[in-house]
Formats: sequence, C-alpha cells, structure tokens
Amino acid sequence: MKLKRTHTCGQLRRGDVGAEVILNGWIHSRRDHGGLIFFDLRDRYGKTQVIFDESVAKAAFAKAKGLGMEDVIAVRGPVVARSTENINPKMVTGEIDMSCTELEVLNEAEPLPFLVTDRESANEDLRLTYRYLELRTEQLQHNLITRSKIYQLVRSYFTGEQFLEIETPFLMKSTPEGARDYLVPSRIHQGKFYALPQSPQIYKQLLMIAGYDRYFQIVKCFRDEDLRADRQPEFTQIDVELSFVDEEDIFAIVEGLIGRLFKEIQGVQLPAAFPRLTHREAMERYGTDKPDLRYELELQEFAPFVEPSDFNVFKAVLKSGGRVKALVATGCARYSRKDIDELTAWLTRYHRAKGLAWMKAAGDGLEGGIAKFFGDDLQKEIITQLDVKEGDLLFIIGDRAKVALPALGALRVELARREGLVNTDEVRPLWITDFPLLEFDEETQRHVAVHHPFTAPHADDIQLLDTDPGQVRSRGYDLVINGHEIAGGSIRIHDANLQDRLFRLLGISPDEAEAKFGFLLKALRYGAPPHGGIAFGFDRLVMVLVGTGQIRDVIAFPKTTSALSLMDGAPSEVSEEQLKELGIRLDEKMKDSQ
Ligand code: AMO
Repeated sequence: MKLKRTHTCGQLRRGDVGAEVILNGWIHSRRDHGGLIFFDLRDRYGKTQVIFDESVAKAAFAKAKGLGMEDVIAVRGPVVARSTENINPKMVTGEIDMSCTELEVLNEAEPLPFLVTDRESANEDLRLTYRYLELRTEQLQHNLITRSKIYQLVRSYFTGEQFLEIETPFLMKSTPEGARDYLVPSRIHQGKFYALPQSPQIYKQLLMIAGYDRYFQIVKCFRDEDLRADRQPEFTQIDVELSFVDEEDIFAIVEGLIGRLFKEIQGVQLPAAFPRLTHREAMERYGTDKPDLRYELELQEFAPFVEPSDFNVFKAVLKSGGRVKALVATGCARYSRKDIDELTAWLTRYHRAKGLAWMKAAGDGLEGGIAKFFGDDLQKEIITQLDVKEGDLLFIIGDRAKVALPALGALRVELARREGLVNTDEVRPLWITDFPLLEFDEETQRHVAVHHPFTAPHADDIQLLDTDPGQVRSRGYDLVINGHEIAGGSIRIHDANLQDRLFRLLGISPDEAEAKFGFLLKALRYGAPPHGGIAFGFDRLVMVLVGTGQIRDVIAFPKTTSALSLMDGAPSEVSEEQLKELGIRLDEKMKDSQ
C-alpha cells in the first residue's frame, strides 16, 4: 500500500484544518450529489467524512464513483472546516471534512450478507456465520473495546494489591466440579483423557499450599452444560485466591475492584461496602439467590391467611410441610384473564409450579380468582397485612418450598420486566452468604455440594454434618449485581481429615476420593494454610458494565445456544487417521448419522 495512514478516522478536529493527512478505513456510507461524493470513512476509532469533488480531483472522483459500502480505501488530502450549518455535533469529527485529492483502493468488498450499519438487519445465525462483519458494528466494537479496558483495570488493581498472576494448566485431570467436563483424548497414552478445566479451583488451592498467598488469573474455563443468555461453554473467569484470610478480607478486596470498575467504566460511585443477605433471606424475600434489587416487589408470607380460609388446596400444602407465599403486583388488577392464564402456563411449563392463584383488590375487598374462599374479614386482614392497594393484583403460590419460592421469584422478575420497573441506570451489588453446604439431589438420591466439595462448612454447624447434613451452612458467598450472579467463592477446607469426611458425605468412596482427589488430600497434609477465594464470571461482569443482557454481545467469537460455532463449523468431524492415532473408534450409529 502506498498511502499509509497519518491519522485515524476518529482523530481529526477543528485544530487540524489545513493539515495534509492520510486516512485508511472502510466505506461506512456514501452519498452522491452530482459533482460531489461523500463517504463516511470508518475505522475502530471513529468516522470521518471524506469529500470527493470532481472539480478538485478528477481521478479520485472517478475512482470513488465505482466504490461501495465496506470497500477498504486510503485517501490523502487536506482537512477542511465545515460551514456552521453543516457541523454535526453528534460526531467527534463533525466539525471537519477531509477533501480527497488522492485515492488508493486497498480492497473491494463483495456485496454484504447484511448491513454493518444495522445489526438488526439480519437474524442472529446469519450474523454469527459472518461474525467478523458483525464485529464491525458500533455496538460490538464498543463492547470489545470496553472489555479490553476492563482487563487492564483488573490486572492493575490486583497487581497493585500484591497479587501474582499465575497460569494453570488447560490439560488437566478430570475432577468433575458440577458440570460435565470437556475431554481431550491423549495420543501418547491411548485410552486416557485430559479434561479442560471447569475452573482452576484445585490448582489455585495448591498454589496457596505452595505459599503464593495472593493469586489471580484471567482464565478460560470450559463447561459442557445447557446454555442460556448468560452462559457459554467456554467463558472467562477472574480467578482469585488468598491465604490467611476470612470472608471480610475477600469481600473488601472484591468491593475495591468492583467499585473501581464501575467508577472508571460507568462513572458510577458504588458504596464502599455492599449490603449482605443470607441465602435464606434472599429466598424468602425474592425467591432467588440472585435478587435484582433495582425494584422492590418482595414476596410475602401468606400462610397465616390459609387456616381461617376455605381454600383446601393451600391447607393441604401447609399440612405437608410446604409453603404459601404471595406477591402483590402493584397496579396489575387491569390484567385480563388471558394475561393471567399466560403467566400461569409459563410458570407451570418452566418453573414447575402447579398453578398460580390470584385475587384482585377492588373497593375494600378482594375479587376474582380464589377470593370466594376468603371471608370479608379475612380479605380485609389480607389487604392490611400485605399492604394491598386498590388496583393491585395478588398472586399466590402454594407448593413445596423448592417450587413455591423460585416460581414466585421468577414471576417477580417477569412482572418487573412487563411493568418496566427496572431502572437501567442503577447498579445494585450485594453479597449472598450462608448458603447451605449441601443440597439433596432427587435424581441421584444423594447430597451434592452447593458450591463445590472444597467449600468449608460453617464452624457452628460442623456437629450437624453427620446428623442433619442438609442444615449445615457453608462459608460460601456469591456476589450478585442487578440480578446476575457475577462471582462465587468460599473459604476452603484446609484440613485433610475434614475434606475426606466431606467427600464421604457426598457419596464419594475412599477409593474414589483417592483416585480423583488423592493429590489434593495429600497436599493438604503438607502444611496447607487457611485460605479462600472467589471467581468472577468475567463475561457477565462485562455484560453488566456495558449494559447488555446477552453474553454473546461481549465475546468476540461466541458459540450458539447449541454450542456451535457457525462461522468455522466447530465441532466438526475429524479424519479416520486422527481417530486412529488416538485409539478412538466411532460407534457405527454415530458414523451413520454423519
Ligand atoms: P462458579 O462455578 O460459581 O465458581 O463460577 C464462578 C463464576 O463464573 C461465572 N460462570 C459462567 N459464566 C459464563 N458461562 C458459564 N457457563 C459460567 N459458569 C459460571 C459465574 C460464576 O459466578 N472455582 C469456583 C470459584 C471459587 O470457589 O473460587 C467456581 O468456578 O459468574
């Protein structure tokens, strides 16, 4: 190329008028006005309007006539001031133009499958197939540029706090952590497999044992699990671990980081310490362990009104140890039967609820739905106790706690969305603490770890480990921002015997524990310091910082919800030779389907 840029397309200002410059970039848009052609020339720094005037530069004008959107060009010429009426205050370069005297075509683009000026001009599959074109859109460029800034801020924060950045292996031993592992077959050791890390959990604990008492890493993690708007099969964590600490030290470090990020990226000042809710409180008040505090709409206890009523369904629920909770939907009495039926269908389909009971506030009583089962006095009591106002709609769910609370929690989020209750300018971080250590998995009929098996039990509850393990609280915590689980961590078990005991509680036999985690158990016996840590979902943090609800908007080359890369076609078949070298033979059935 002959004409190498002297400036970027976002750089020139009024003070540059008169200077001879060269710009390189893509033709973002073009307008023809007889003897004049205008291009908006774009690079990642911005856009500059370039003018081709037939009476000034005949050859450049002639070449420009044949060019179209997304062609790559180099232009030379003077910077000229725009007349006052032509100034565009929306563009940082809006006070000037460049008047082209020489044009070099660097590459012409074929007609594009969609407009890079309008992301919505194509469906997502098409955009993902041509992701490199979608990445040219202003929104994605902004997101990735911000993501890059965030990496730098994170690194400078942790380095400033005496943390060491240490890499851990991607090819590791399969030690399941909750999700399914991605496996990598070994060629040298046929029949054996590495696993890609679901997180560097065990390595970071080993680093503590090795004495590297403040560690962090910005690291890829891999989990073969069902995907959602905030989940990808490979995603990035900011992984952190510290020795000789308790929860307070970790909270302070994290609050410092999050405070700095929101200040630098959004100009928002967060409180120095974030509010805390226990897991139990969060479930009771919001029906979720990741509540969005940007709106109120809290769940309320409905049990006291069940006994004096004639509604036997709820009586039966309470009798069998279940819960009856209510949600007062402000101003929603206008919802039609159809609206309520829709919400009910959605809750039964996706949130396991068996139904959704309702009553509307009208006059000084309740009407519709299940109101007839509640006498006048009881209705008045409900209205006073639950602070129901004229025009409100009362939703009630009675079921096992495991169903009733999350279903109402989901309804809370949906109502906030429908009613526009979310103030998108607000940032509401909080800590969730005192998670249960274990959870009973009905499918496998055994206890599983709520965080992971290395999480320490609460000191006060250790005596319950053998008698009532479901009641043991853990020293785990999550950081939640605006309804997203942004980070999770815990104080760890640093005592080999306690770790061994935990494995057994989780139904892992001594042999299995030895085979899977023997190296960790051994390491814990060689002077393991008390330690704890946390890992941030980096992509989720970027999502919140740039204000998108879709994880794919902050990852350069993401996968679809069915874990495909539409651009390069991964995953794909491999050759017979490759399989042979690995000692792998495909099932005949699989071959047929290929
Ligand atoms: P955890 O499994 O909670 O903890 O993961 C930490 C954070 O990572 C994010 N995250 C994800 N982001 C995108 N796609 C996914 N599939 C995905 N899965 C998780 C979440 C989550 O809060 N080793 C422990 C941390 C520790 O105990 O220190 C761990 O990985 O934001």
